[in-house]
Amino acid sequence: MNYVSAEVTTRNEFYGNKNPEQLIQEYGSPLYVYNERIFRSRCRDMKNLIKYKNFKVQFSAKANSNLSLLKIAREEGLNVDAMSPGEIYLELKAGFKPEQIFFVCNNVSADEMKFAIDSKVNISVDSLSQLDLLGKINRGGKVAVRFNSGIGAGHSEKVVTAGKNTKFGVDAKLVPEVKKILKKYDLKLIGINQHIGSLFMEPTPYVESVKSLLSIAENFEDLEFIDMGGGFGIPYHKQTGEDRLDIKLLGEQLDEIIEAWTKKYGKEITIKIEPGRYIPAESSVLLGTVYAVKFNGERKYVGTDIGFNVLARPVMYNSHHDVEIYRKDSEAQANIEEVTLVGNICESGDIIAKNRKLPEMREGDIIGILDAGAYGYAMSSNYNSRLRPAEILIKEDGTEIVIRRRDTLEDLLRNF
Ligand code: LLP
Repeated sequence: MNYVSAEVTTRNEFYGNKNPEQLIQEYGSPLYVYNERIFRSRCRDMKNLIKYKNFKVQFSAKANSNLSLLKIAREEGLNVDAMSPGEIYLELKAGFKPEQIFFVCNNVSADEMKFAIDSKVNISVDSLSQLDLLGKINRGGKVAVRFNSGIGAGHSEKVVTAGKNTKFGVDAKLVPEVKKILKKYDLKLIGINQHIGSLFMEPTPYVESVKSLLSIAENFEDLEFIDMGGGFGIPYHKQTGEDRLDIKLLGEQLDEIIEAWTKKYGKEITIKIEPGRYIPAESSVLLGTVYAVKFNGERKYVGTDIGFNVLARPVMYNSHHDVEIYRKDSEAQANIEEVTLVGNICESGDIIAKNRKLPEMREGDIIGILDAGAYGYAMSSNYNSRLRPAEILIKEDGTEIVIRRRDTLEDLLRNF
Protein backbone atom coordinates (compact mmCIF):
# COMPACT_ATOMS: atom_id res chain seq x y z
CA MET A 1 0.00 0.00 0.00
CA ASN A 2 1.28 3.45 -0.90
CA TYR A 3 0.50 6.47 1.14
CA VAL A 4 -0.20 9.48 -1.07
CA SER A 5 -0.95 11.70 1.88
CA ALA A 6 -0.81 10.25 5.37
CA GLU A 7 1.34 12.48 7.56
CA VAL A 8 -1.02 12.63 10.52
CA THR A 9 -1.79 8.92 10.83
CA THR A 10 1.83 7.98 10.12
CA ARG A 11 3.03 10.32 12.86
CA ASN A 12 0.50 8.78 15.26
CA GLU A 13 1.12 5.19 14.15
CA PHE A 14 -2.65 5.25 13.98
CA TYR A 15 -3.50 1.96 12.29
CA GLY A 16 -1.51 -0.41 14.50
CA ASN A 17 -0.38 -3.65 12.88
CA LYS A 18 -2.42 -3.30 9.67
CA ASN A 19 -2.84 -0.76 6.91
CA PRO A 20 -6.09 0.86 5.71
CA GLU A 21 -6.40 -1.49 2.75
CA GLN A 22 -6.21 -4.57 4.97
CA LEU A 23 -8.72 -3.09 7.41
CA ILE A 24 -11.21 -2.29 4.64
CA GLN A 25 -10.79 -5.72 3.10
CA GLU A 26 -11.58 -7.31 6.41
CA TYR A 27 -14.32 -5.06 7.76
CA GLY A 28 -15.83 -3.37 4.70
CA SER A 29 -15.97 0.21 3.48
CA PRO A 30 -16.75 2.73 4.91
CA LEU A 31 -15.25 1.96 8.31
CA TYR A 32 -14.78 3.91 11.54
CA VAL A 33 -11.34 3.07 12.95
CA TYR A 34 -10.56 4.13 16.53
CA ASN A 35 -7.23 4.20 18.27
CA GLU A 36 -7.38 3.25 21.95
CA ARG A 37 -4.09 4.94 22.89
CA ILE A 38 -5.25 8.30 21.58
CA PHE A 39 -8.69 7.94 23.20
CA ARG A 40 -7.12 7.20 26.57
CA SER A 41 -4.64 10.05 26.30
CA ARG A 42 -7.47 12.54 25.70
CA CYS A 43 -9.32 11.21 28.76
CA ARG A 44 -6.14 11.87 30.76
CA ASP A 45 -5.68 15.38 29.31
CA MET A 46 -9.11 16.28 30.62
CA LYS A 47 -8.56 14.62 34.01
CA ASN A 48 -5.44 16.71 34.46
CA LEU A 49 -7.01 19.95 33.29
CA ILE A 50 -7.03 21.54 36.73
CA LYS A 51 -5.19 20.87 39.97
CA TYR A 52 -8.18 21.61 42.23
CA LYS A 53 -8.71 18.44 44.22
CA ASN A 54 -12.48 17.99 44.02
CA PHE A 55 -12.50 17.90 40.25
CA LYS A 56 -14.48 15.48 38.12
CA VAL A 57 -14.69 14.93 34.36
CA GLN A 58 -18.02 13.85 32.88
CA PHE A 59 -17.65 12.56 29.35
CA SER A 60 -20.53 13.88 27.26
CA ALA A 61 -21.62 10.68 25.59
CA LYS A 62 -23.61 12.39 22.86
CA ALA A 63 -20.30 12.77 21.02
CA ASN A 64 -19.81 9.02 20.94
CA SER A 65 -21.80 6.43 22.84
CA ASN A 66 -20.12 3.27 21.59
CA LEU A 67 -20.33 0.82 24.50
CA SER A 68 -16.66 -0.20 24.31
CA LEU A 69 -15.50 3.42 24.32
CA LEU A 70 -17.80 4.21 27.24
CA LYS A 71 -16.20 1.33 29.12
CA ILE A 72 -12.72 2.70 28.42
CA ALA A 73 -13.78 6.15 29.62
CA ARG A 74 -15.06 4.50 32.81
CA GLU A 75 -11.77 2.62 33.27
CA GLU A 76 -10.00 5.97 32.93
CA GLY A 77 -12.03 7.23 35.90
CA LEU A 78 -14.43 9.50 34.03
CA ASN A 79 -18.10 9.98 34.82
CA VAL A 80 -20.65 10.66 32.07
CA ASP A 81 -23.51 12.94 31.20
CA ALA A 82 -26.64 11.79 29.37
CA MET A 83 -29.03 13.64 27.14
CA SER A 84 -31.73 11.00 26.84
CA PRO A 85 -33.05 7.84 28.50
CA GLY A 86 -31.21 5.94 25.74
CA GLU A 87 -27.88 7.37 26.86
CA ILE A 88 -28.66 6.57 30.51
CA TYR A 89 -29.49 3.02 29.45
CA LEU A 90 -26.25 2.60 27.50
CA GLU A 91 -24.16 4.11 30.27
CA LEU A 92 -25.61 1.77 32.88
CA LYS A 93 -24.85 -1.10 30.49
CA ALA A 94 -21.27 0.19 30.20
CA GLY A 95 -20.95 -0.22 33.96
CA PHE A 96 -21.34 3.34 35.21
CA LYS A 97 -23.03 3.57 38.59
CA PRO A 98 -26.16 5.77 38.71
CA GLU A 99 -24.34 8.37 40.79
CA GLN A 100 -21.73 8.66 38.02
CA ILE A 101 -24.37 9.67 35.47
CA PHE A 102 -25.70 13.21 35.10
CA PHE A 103 -28.89 13.60 33.04
CA VAL A 104 -28.62 17.04 31.45
CA CYS A 105 -32.00 17.11 29.80
CA ASN A 106 -33.85 19.58 27.64
CA ASN A 107 -37.62 19.59 27.04
CA VAL A 108 -38.33 16.06 28.24
CA SER A 109 -41.61 14.35 29.10
CA ALA A 110 -42.66 13.32 32.59
CA ASP A 111 -42.07 9.70 31.57
CA GLU A 112 -38.50 10.44 30.55
CA MET A 113 -37.91 12.25 33.83
CA LYS A 114 -39.41 9.30 35.72
CA PHE A 115 -37.03 7.00 33.88
CA ALA A 116 -34.10 9.10 35.14
CA ILE A 117 -35.49 9.25 38.69
CA ASP A 118 -36.08 5.47 38.75
CA SER A 119 -32.56 4.98 37.41
CA LYS A 120 -31.33 7.04 40.41
CA VAL A 121 -29.19 9.39 38.33
CA ASN A 122 -28.79 13.09 39.07
CA ILE A 123 -30.93 15.35 36.92
CA SER A 124 -30.38 18.87 35.62
CA VAL A 125 -33.35 20.85 34.28
CA ASP A 126 -33.08 23.97 32.19
CA SER A 127 -36.40 25.79 32.41
CA LEU A 128 -38.86 26.78 35.11
CA SER A 129 -41.47 24.52 33.42
CA GLN A 130 -39.24 21.48 33.73
CA LEU A 131 -38.26 22.35 37.30
CA ASP A 132 -41.95 22.51 38.14
CA LEU A 133 -42.59 19.19 36.39
CA LEU A 134 -39.75 17.53 38.28
CA GLY A 135 -41.10 18.97 41.55
CA LYS A 136 -44.51 17.45 40.84
CA ILE A 137 -43.17 13.98 40.17
CA ASN A 138 -40.31 13.94 42.65
CA ARG A 139 -41.32 16.15 45.59
CA GLY A 140 -38.52 16.38 48.16
CA GLY A 141 -35.94 15.12 45.64
CA LYS A 142 -32.63 16.47 44.41
CA VAL A 143 -32.13 18.59 41.34
CA ALA A 144 -29.56 20.65 39.48
CA VAL A 145 -30.39 23.69 37.37
CA ARG A 146 -28.68 24.62 34.13
CA PHE A 147 -28.20 28.37 33.89
CA ASN A 148 -27.47 30.50 30.89
CA SER A 149 -24.36 32.36 31.98
CA GLY A 150 -24.86 34.85 29.15
CA ILE A 151 -21.66 33.96 27.30
CA GLY A 152 -21.79 31.58 24.35
CA ALA A 153 -19.15 30.12 22.03
CA GLY A 154 -19.00 27.57 19.24
CA HIS A 155 -17.91 26.68 15.72
CA SER A 156 -21.38 27.26 14.26
CA GLU A 157 -24.41 29.21 15.43
CA LYS A 158 -26.21 25.85 15.57
CA VAL A 159 -24.04 24.75 18.50
CA VAL A 160 -23.77 27.92 20.58
CA THR A 161 -25.78 27.05 23.68
CA ALA A 162 -25.58 30.12 25.92
CA GLY A 163 -26.01 33.85 25.35
CA LYS A 164 -28.95 35.55 23.69
CA ASN A 165 -29.96 33.20 20.87
CA THR A 166 -30.43 29.78 22.35
CA LYS A 167 -33.16 27.57 23.76
CA PHE A 168 -30.90 26.36 26.58
CA GLY A 169 -30.54 27.29 30.22
CA VAL A 170 -32.40 29.36 32.77
CA ASP A 171 -31.79 33.09 32.59
CA ALA A 172 -29.80 34.26 35.65
CA LYS A 173 -32.49 36.89 36.24
CA LEU A 174 -34.86 34.07 37.19
CA VAL A 175 -32.96 32.98 40.32
CA PRO A 176 -35.84 34.18 42.60
CA GLU A 177 -38.37 32.10 40.59
CA VAL A 178 -36.08 29.08 40.77
CA LYS A 179 -35.93 29.46 44.55
CA LYS A 180 -39.74 29.68 44.76
CA ILE A 181 -40.22 26.43 42.86
CA LEU A 182 -37.52 24.68 44.90
CA LYS A 183 -39.35 25.72 48.05
CA LYS A 184 -42.79 24.83 46.72
CA TYR A 185 -41.78 21.21 46.11
CA ASP A 186 -39.18 20.96 48.87
CA LEU A 187 -36.51 20.22 46.25
CA LYS A 188 -32.84 20.28 47.19
CA LEU A 189 -30.66 22.14 44.70
CA ILE A 190 -27.48 20.06 44.62
CA GLY A 191 -25.73 21.75 41.73
CA ILE A 192 -25.76 24.26 38.96
CA ASN A 193 -24.42 23.69 35.48
CA GLN A 194 -23.89 25.32 32.13
CA HIS A 195 -22.73 24.49 28.65
CA ILE A 196 -21.74 27.47 26.55
CA GLY A 197 -21.42 25.71 23.20
CA SER A 198 -19.25 23.40 21.22
CA LEU A 199 -15.67 23.96 20.08
CA PHE A 200 -13.75 26.89 21.42
CA MET A 201 -10.01 27.11 20.65
CA GLU A 202 -9.16 30.03 22.98
CA PRO A 203 -9.64 29.91 26.77
CA THR A 204 -11.30 33.31 27.13
CA PRO A 205 -15.03 32.64 26.52
CA TYR A 206 -14.98 29.56 28.75
CA VAL A 207 -13.13 31.36 31.53
CA GLU A 208 -15.49 34.34 31.36
CA SER A 209 -18.54 32.08 31.42
CA VAL A 210 -17.18 30.24 34.47
CA LYS A 211 -16.79 33.56 36.30
CA SER A 212 -20.40 34.35 35.46
CA LEU A 213 -21.61 30.88 36.55
CA LEU A 214 -19.72 31.14 39.84
CA SER A 215 -21.36 34.45 40.58
CA ILE A 216 -24.78 32.83 39.93
CA ALA A 217 -23.73 30.05 42.34
CA GLU A 218 -23.36 32.58 45.14
CA ASN A 219 -27.16 32.79 45.27
CA PHE A 220 -27.32 29.24 46.60
CA GLU A 221 -25.85 28.08 49.88
CA ASP A 222 -25.75 24.33 49.82
CA LEU A 223 -24.43 23.34 46.44
CA GLU A 224 -22.57 20.06 46.14
CA PHE A 225 -21.20 20.78 42.68
CA ILE A 226 -20.77 23.23 39.86
CA ASP A 227 -20.52 21.89 36.33
CA MET A 228 -18.74 24.26 33.95
CA GLY A 229 -19.75 22.38 30.79
CA GLY A 230 -17.87 21.15 27.75
CA GLY A 231 -16.94 22.67 24.40
CA PHE A 232 -13.15 22.07 24.40
CA GLY A 233 -12.05 22.27 20.77
CA ILE A 234 -9.68 20.12 18.78
CA PRO A 235 -7.64 21.23 15.76
CA TYR A 236 -9.47 20.01 12.64
CA HIS A 237 -6.87 21.66 10.37
CA LYS A 238 -3.92 19.50 11.39
CA GLN A 239 -2.46 19.29 7.89
CA THR A 240 -1.93 23.05 7.90
CA GLY A 241 -0.51 23.12 11.41
CA GLU A 242 -3.44 24.50 13.43
CA ASP A 243 -2.50 24.99 17.08
CA ARG A 244 -4.11 22.94 19.81
CA LEU A 245 -6.28 24.51 22.49
CA ASP A 246 -3.86 25.56 25.21
CA ILE A 247 -5.29 23.42 27.99
CA LYS A 248 -2.39 24.24 30.31
CA LEU A 249 -3.18 27.93 30.15
CA LEU A 250 -6.92 27.26 30.40
CA GLY A 251 -6.35 25.02 33.43
CA GLU A 252 -4.19 27.61 35.20
CA GLN A 253 -6.76 30.33 34.65
CA LEU A 254 -9.56 28.08 35.91
CA ASP A 255 -7.58 26.99 38.98
CA GLU A 256 -7.00 30.60 39.92
CA ILE A 257 -10.68 31.53 39.68
CA ILE A 258 -11.88 28.38 41.43
CA GLU A 259 -9.44 28.77 44.31
CA ALA A 260 -10.54 32.35 44.94
CA TRP A 261 -14.21 31.42 44.64
CA THR A 262 -14.10 28.42 47.01
CA LYS A 263 -12.51 30.63 49.67
CA LYS A 264 -15.39 33.04 49.29
CA TYR A 265 -18.00 30.27 49.26
CA GLY A 266 -16.43 28.64 52.31
CA LYS A 267 -16.48 25.09 50.96
CA GLU A 268 -14.43 23.11 48.48
CA ILE A 269 -17.37 21.69 46.54
CA THR A 270 -17.02 19.46 43.48
CA ILE A 271 -16.18 21.22 40.23
CA LYS A 272 -16.97 19.36 37.03
CA ILE A 273 -16.43 19.66 33.31
CA GLU A 274 -18.44 17.99 30.56
CA PRO A 275 -16.27 17.46 27.49
CA GLY A 276 -17.73 15.57 24.54
CA ARG A 277 -15.74 16.17 21.35
CA TYR A 278 -12.30 16.49 22.95
CA ILE A 279 -12.25 12.88 24.18
CA PRO A 280 -13.09 10.82 21.05
CA ALA A 281 -12.69 13.20 18.08
CA GLU A 282 -9.03 12.64 17.30
CA SER A 283 -9.14 8.96 18.15
CA SER A 284 -10.96 8.07 14.94
CA VAL A 285 -10.37 8.09 11.21
CA LEU A 286 -13.29 7.28 8.92
CA LEU A 287 -12.06 5.18 6.01
CA GLY A 288 -13.86 5.14 2.67
CA THR A 289 -13.27 4.24 -0.94
CA VAL A 290 -13.16 6.30 -4.14
CA TYR A 291 -15.48 4.81 -6.76
CA ALA A 292 -15.79 7.51 -9.41
CA VAL A 293 -13.82 10.51 -10.65
CA LYS A 294 -15.43 12.88 -13.15
CA PHE A 295 -15.82 16.40 -14.44
CA ASN A 296 -19.22 18.06 -14.38
CA GLY A 297 -18.89 21.42 -16.02
CA GLU A 298 -15.72 22.99 -14.68
CA ARG A 299 -15.72 21.08 -11.45
CA LYS A 300 -13.94 17.83 -10.73
CA TYR A 301 -15.86 15.46 -8.49
CA VAL A 302 -14.40 12.60 -6.55
CA GLY A 303 -17.19 10.18 -5.62
CA THR A 304 -16.84 8.02 -2.52
CA ASP A 305 -18.95 5.86 -0.24
CA ILE A 306 -18.83 8.44 2.58
CA GLY A 307 -22.26 9.98 2.33
CA PHE A 308 -23.75 12.29 4.90
CA ASN A 309 -25.53 9.30 6.38
CA VAL A 310 -22.06 8.20 7.57
CA LEU A 311 -20.60 11.60 8.50
CA ALA A 312 -23.09 14.47 8.77
CA ARG A 313 -20.80 17.25 10.06
CA PRO A 314 -19.60 18.73 6.74
CA VAL A 315 -23.18 19.00 5.43
CA MET A 316 -24.77 20.04 8.71
CA TYR A 317 -22.24 22.68 9.83
CA ASN A 318 -19.99 23.18 6.83
CA SER A 319 -17.31 21.58 9.02
CA HIS A 320 -13.79 20.94 7.80
CA HIS A 321 -12.18 17.52 8.16
CA ASP A 322 -8.68 16.87 6.86
CA VAL A 323 -8.44 14.09 4.28
CA GLU A 324 -5.69 11.52 3.77
CA ILE A 325 -5.27 9.34 0.68
CA TYR A 326 -3.94 5.79 0.57
CA ARG A 327 -3.33 4.07 -2.76
CA LYS A 328 -3.55 0.37 -3.31
CA ASP A 329 -1.47 -0.92 -6.15
CA SER A 330 0.29 1.81 -8.05
CA GLU A 331 2.85 4.44 -7.21
CA ALA A 332 2.00 7.17 -4.79
CA GLN A 333 2.02 10.48 -6.61
CA ALA A 334 0.97 13.90 -5.57
CA ASN A 335 -0.31 16.29 -8.24
CA ILE A 336 -2.33 18.76 -6.22
CA GLU A 337 -5.67 19.70 -7.76
CA GLU A 338 -8.92 21.29 -6.66
CA VAL A 339 -11.73 18.79 -6.27
CA THR A 340 -15.10 18.42 -4.64
CA LEU A 341 -15.19 15.28 -2.56
CA VAL A 342 -18.68 13.79 -2.37
CA GLY A 343 -20.60 10.80 -1.05
CA ASN A 344 -23.15 8.42 -2.54
CA ILE A 345 -26.42 9.91 -1.24
CA CYS A 346 -29.01 11.17 -3.71
CA GLU A 347 -28.66 14.86 -2.83
CA SER A 348 -26.40 17.46 -4.42
CA GLY A 349 -25.57 18.73 -0.96
CA ASP A 350 -23.87 15.44 -0.12
CA ILE A 351 -20.41 16.99 0.02
CA ILE A 352 -17.51 16.06 2.30
CA ALA A 353 -15.15 18.79 1.08
CA LYS A 354 -15.96 21.50 -1.47
CA ASN A 355 -13.29 22.91 -3.80
CA ARG A 356 -10.54 21.38 -1.68
CA LYS A 357 -6.94 21.25 -2.89
CA LEU A 358 -5.95 17.61 -2.56
CA PRO A 359 -3.51 15.20 -4.16
CA GLU A 360 -5.02 13.66 -7.29
CA MET A 361 -7.32 10.77 -6.45
CA ARG A 362 -8.15 7.73 -8.54
CA GLU A 363 -10.82 5.05 -8.55
CA GLY A 364 -9.89 2.45 -5.94
CA ASP A 365 -8.02 4.85 -3.66
CA ILE A 366 -8.85 4.62 0.02
CA ILE A 367 -9.43 7.90 1.82
CA GLY A 368 -9.29 8.68 5.52
CA ILE A 369 -11.42 11.43 6.99
CA LEU A 370 -9.54 12.58 10.07
CA ASP A 371 -10.91 13.53 13.48
CA ALA A 372 -14.16 11.65 12.87
CA GLY A 373 -14.60 10.20 16.36
CA ALA A 374 -16.92 12.85 17.79
CA TYR A 375 -20.40 13.36 16.34
CA GLY A 376 -19.45 10.97 13.54
CA TYR A 377 -21.07 7.59 14.08
CA ALA A 378 -23.25 9.23 16.73
CA MET A 379 -25.00 11.30 14.04
CA SER A 380 -25.03 8.63 11.34
CA SER A 381 -28.25 7.24 9.92
CA ASN A 382 -29.75 4.73 7.53
CA TYR A 383 -30.80 7.44 5.05
CA ASN A 384 -31.24 6.00 1.55
CA SER A 385 -31.51 2.68 3.42
CA ARG A 386 -27.75 2.55 3.57
CA LEU A 387 -26.04 0.33 6.08
CA ARG A 388 -24.12 2.07 8.82
CA PRO A 389 -20.44 1.07 8.92
CA ALA A 390 -18.64 -1.10 11.43
CA GLU A 391 -16.49 0.46 14.13
CA ILE A 392 -13.17 -1.14 15.00
CA LEU A 393 -10.70 -0.33 17.76
CA ILE A 394 -6.93 -0.51 17.36
CA LYS A 395 -5.83 -1.63 20.79
CA GLU A 396 -2.70 -0.48 22.51
CA ASP A 397 -0.82 -3.59 21.34
CA GLY A 398 -1.62 -2.76 17.69
CA THR A 399 -4.22 -5.50 17.16
CA GLU A 400 -7.79 -4.61 16.28
CA ILE A 401 -11.22 -5.67 17.53
CA VAL A 402 -14.72 -4.98 16.22
CA ILE A 403 -16.56 -2.69 18.64
CA ARG A 404 -19.71 -2.43 16.54
CA ARG A 405 -20.57 -4.63 13.60
CA ARG A 406 -21.67 -3.20 10.30
CA ASP A 407 -25.45 -3.05 9.77
CA THR A 408 -26.92 -5.89 7.75
CA LEU A 409 -29.85 -5.77 5.35
CA GLU A 410 -31.89 -7.60 8.01
CA ASP A 411 -31.29 -4.66 10.38
CA LEU A 412 -33.32 -2.53 7.99
CA LEU A 413 -36.31 -4.80 8.67
CA ARG A 414 -35.87 -4.86 12.46
CA ASN A 415 -38.92 -2.77 13.33
CA PHE A 416 -41.40 -4.18 10.84
N1 LLP B 1 -22.80 19.27 27.65
C1 LLP B 1 -23.93 19.61 27.04
C2 LLP B 1 -25.10 19.96 27.83
C3 LLP B 1 -24.00 19.64 25.63
O1 LLP B 1 -25.13 19.99 25.02
C4 LLP B 1 -22.85 19.28 24.88
C5 LLP B 1 -22.89 19.31 23.41
C6 LLP B 1 -21.69 18.92 25.58
C7 LLP B 1 -21.70 18.93 26.97
C8 LLP B 1 -20.42 18.51 24.89
O2 LLP B 1 -19.93 19.50 24.06
P1 LLP B 1 -18.50 19.30 23.34
O3 LLP B 1 -17.46 19.18 24.41
O4 LLP B 1 -18.60 18.07 22.52
O5 LLP B 1 -18.33 20.51 22.50
N2 LLP B 1 -22.91 17.91 16.60
C9 LLP B 1 -22.08 19.09 16.77
C10 LLP B 1 -21.81 19.39 18.22
C11 LLP B 1 -23.06 19.46 19.06
C12 LLP B 1 -22.80 19.68 20.52
C13 LLP B 1 -24.04 19.55 21.30
N3 LLP B 1 -23.87 19.66 22.72
C14 LLP B 1 -20.79 18.92 15.97
O6 LLP B 1 -20.63 17.90 15.30
O7 LLP B 1 -19.94 19.81 15.94
